[in-house]
Amino acid sequence: MIKTVYFDNNAVVILDQSQLPEKVVYERCETPEKVADAIRLLKVRGAPLIGVTAAFGLAMAVNTYQGAANQLERYFKDTSKLLASTRPTAVNLFWALERMERVFNQFFKINPDNIGVLLVQEAEKMYQEDNKINEAIGEQGQKLIKSGSQIMTICNAGALATCGYGTALGVIRSAAKKNYVHRVWACETRPVLQGARLTVWELMQDKIPVTLITDNMAGYVMGMGKINAVIAGADRIAANGDTANKIGTYSLAVLARYHNIPFYIAAPLSTIDRSLALGEEIPIEERDQDEVRQFRGNYLTVADADVFNPAFDVTPNELISGIITEKGVIEKPFAEGIKLIFTERNRQDEISS
Ligand code: MRU
Repeated sequence: MIKTVYFDNNAVVILDQSQLPEKVVYERCETPEKVADAIRLLKVRGAPLIGVTAAFGLAMAVNTYQGAANQLERYFKDTSKLLASTRPTAVNLFWALERMERVFNQFFKINPDNIGVLLVQEAEKMYQEDNKINEAIGEQGQKLIKSGSQIMTICNAGALATCGYGTALGVIRSAAKKNYVHRVWACETRPVLQGARLTVWELMQDKIPVTLITDNMAGYVMGMGKINAVIAGADRIAANGDTANKIGTYSLAVLARYHNIPFYIAAPLSTIDRSLALGEEIPIEERDQDEVRQFRGNYLTVADADVFNPAFDVTPNELISGIITEKGVIEKPFAEGIKLIFTERNRQDEISS
């Protein structure tokens, strides 16, 4: 499985996804500002990967800190704020930074000389955990896939969006291992083309049959009777199951409902934000208008055309057939299912600690 991020000699090394599929290029980010830019510019993207990359960035910042000892706590907070400011929608970013803050608060006072190392260790732990969680999501989700299935997906919720294996593509991978996947239909995902550039590339590497369509072909393909399930990832799930994911996901869910096709969300529990009751409270990132006007510097429209460029939309819970997590598939009513899965997880954590 391709490495999306790793820590090397006090640098956060990222796979620059903006250059895929033409070039496989790794970039060494040696300052937290470089890490923040990499997240902002979508060189690293995908909710779980953004979180872990920011955690590595924060750990690196503390581990290479040269300033006065009494200013380190301030520096930690400022750097965390910088990393948190990069993208507003994926809750995994804030989840990961908060987890780092808990470690900082727990050990800074008692072990200040070692705090950088402890933070690097925590980020590494998150990386390893993410891999295991994705495999568990795959294992849970494959049970929903019937033999000979054709599955539609959007954006890239694969190994490239995580620390390996993927969420939506993790389910597809696990089903493909059983030979249950006849074909994946990848929506190209305008404007940044994560589907065309990343999902197609990733699945072809794994020899999973994939067909690329433009986003506006989805309804036609569903109408042809070709699709057995739609599976998408998530950037943030509210307590009632409303789900923010890449722009276009909502349209797919509406189309799937019309065509009686199950529509699943695959995501780790860390993507569920129980502090938000409803999807309408999820902040939706709006990105640079030039992402729509141009592709890699070439204009596709009039240079000063007015553009609206929301990066995500929210799929209402009633359009979602199930939320596939590492601890099982959450069914309707989602508000109850979400509460229950966290209660059960906390109970298990207590037993094992
Ligand atoms: O803008 P991106 O490429 O970061 O958007 C990514 C998505 O929308 C993914 O579907 C989501 O983060 C889940 S990744 C496992």
